Amino acid sequence: MTTASQLSMATVQSLPAIWLRDNCSCPACRHPSGQKLHGILDLPSTVAIEDVAESCDGFEISFSPDGHRSVFSRPWLEELLAGPPGDGRSAGEKRLWVGADLQESLPKGEWCHYLDNEAERLRILRAVREIGFVLLRGTPTDDGTVLAVARSFGFVRETNYGELFDVRVELRPSNLAFSGLAISPHTDNPYRDPVPTIQLLHCLSNATEGGESGLVDGFEAALILRQECPNAFEILTSTPVSFAWSDGVASLRANRPLIGIDAAGGVREVRFNNRSMEPLRLHSEPVTRFYDAYRSFAEIIARPTMGVTFRLEPGDCVIFDNVRLLHSRTAFEDGRGGSRHLQGCYADLDGLFSTIAMLEGGR
Ligand code: OGA
Ligand code: ZN
Ligand code: ZN
Repeated sequence: MTTASQLSMATVQSLPAIWLRDNCSCPACRHPSGQKLHGILDLPSTVAIEDVAESCDGFEISFSPDGHRSVFSRPWLEELLAGPPGDGRSAGEKRLWVGADLQESLPKGEWCHYLDNEAERLRILRAVREIGFVLLRGTPTDDGTVLAVARSFGFVRETNYGELFDVRVELRPSNLAFSGLAISPHTDNPYRDPVPTIQLLHCLSNATEGGESGLVDGFEAALILRQECPNAFEILTSTPVSFAWSDGVASLRANRPLIGIDAAGGVREVRFNNRSMEPLRLHSEPVTRFYDAYRSFAEIIARPTMGVTFRLEPGDCVIFDNVRLLHSRTAFEDGRGGSRHLQGCYADLDGLFSTIAMLEGGR
């Protein structure tokens, strides 16, 4: 942390002149909307700090060669000197977990309290940002409720599957999800770029044996992999994998590594889906090394200690981060005695983060 006493005249004088000049907020530099009026080419390449004066407003700087004057407030400079703000997306900004941390206290809330009470809404949405999911109980069991849940914090991402999709047993399923088979931990739609960053699954009925839901923190799994098998981590962050999906009306493809990292090496995206992974186009030796790394990652994800399990009951809606968590379900037998019907839809983290920011006081 930078304290006020550290922000001396000398520190300000040593700041890059072009950076200061570019971030001037005077009316000549900023539109009333707050947007910058100049681009990099409008600023002199030879810009330099001519003079710095300290005032009660902060630091007033005059620049050469054009004599432009700017005032920078102390808190503004201090905040920027304290380091990057983070955008809330990488593993370092999350509360990572394994099953035992959450199994007895799953993040959950009641739909009616969520709607009525801002503090409760904030708590629930923050759980999705920080823990990666929340289980909302007591939502109506009407067709389309999943869309109302998504629209309560963001925007529905419509896809070739429509605004929402039904997850129930079909006669000729185009996807394992539409059968009664078990589905191993996966992220959805890795064949899209950008991938939908939030998924919702809303339970209309679940009167079958089986069909239990599971979630695993993919960021935690990736960090365990980095610790236990750094070489495998390196391979999975640097090998683009082709994911694809097509039917009669859509043909989708994305090439991305299984683990996405940011410039500082922080984990910020996991794509994991055995069903839509295409054959690798590599020479035999790298393919074998990739498979060893892929197996190591899958073994960590499959550890019984990693995940939480729960049963979706009618009126439950789980909202989860689809670039972080892997979801799964056990097999079930539909037909005899009852059926299982979920509705799903996609949304995005940016809408959720924005709603959180507004609830926290805006701008
Ligand atoms: C899905 C899915 C899980 C379930 O539709 O993406 O993974 O519980 N469904 O049926
Ligand atoms: Zn200015
Ligand atoms: Zn899925």
